[in-house]
Amino acid sequence: MTQPLRLGVNIDHVATIRNARGGPHPDPVRAAHLAERAGADGITAHLREDRRHISDGDIARLSGELSLPLNLEMAATDEMLAVAVRHRPHAACLVPEKREEVTTEGGLDVDGQRELLTRCVGELGTAGVRVSLFIDPDPRQLEAAAAVSAPVVELHTGAYCDAFHAHGDGAAMRRELDRLIAGARTAAELGLECHAGHGLTYGTVKPVAALPQVVELNIGHFLIGEAIFTGLDASIRQMRALMDEARAGAAVA
Ligand code: PXP
Repeated sequence: MTQPLRLGVNIDHVATIRNARGGPHPDPVRAAHLAERAGADGITAHLREDRRHISDGDIARLSGELSLPLNLEMAATDEMLAVAVRHRPHAACLVPEKREEVTTEGGLDVDGQRELLTRCVGELGTAGVRVSLFIDPDPRQLEAAAAVSAPVVELHTGAYCDAFHAHGDGAAMRRELDRLIAGARTAAELGLECHAGHGLTYGTVKPVAALPQVVELNIGHFLIGEAIFTGLDASIRQMRALMDEARAGAAVA
């Protein structure tokens, strides 16, 4: 039986717009409440080392006010571990972070950092935080994720989305989608809960939502951008509807 598919709405870029002027508006916590009413199953926020969008104060307010589960995206550093242990979000997604990058460019090198990640997964688990590792759909990284005892992986969909937006529905996109299909299967074989996200749009979400092993998608930038034209409530509802359509199609296929 196909499992239900959750939608985590990433609100980072509400904070990006707020920070462009340095005042309190628009408020990402207000966006989180609106996302809940529009059908989100969780809220995702990335507290970056340079605090370029989400702030420590946002995480404190989200932890205190939200009734939805909070997924804190964070680098695997002692500073961020302390934040996570203080606020105890429902989940933490460990991501690679480079100061100069515009967004999270690739997946975490779990295989190359087994010792560090075993410690992070252990400390977060002890604090009651469910840990996911944001990785490329690469068998070596999936096996390493299982080896460091992570319960969850989030497959990076950025390469698939980039291929679609650069060349359309052609061979390059198909190659990346095949990697995601294989990655989701391997995750399930290894006993890892499988999430996916990054760069997803109305045009790219359905083939990923149809993967039966994937139980959560985390989507942000496109939803916030589309909200400029249609409003955040409508953009989330439309994404949710596409996800549900893809899932229903997969269940009967
Ligand atoms: N998942 C992870 C781990 C991410 O780092 C991001 C971006 O912060 C997303 C999902 C959402 O990506 P996007 O904003 O492109 O939808």
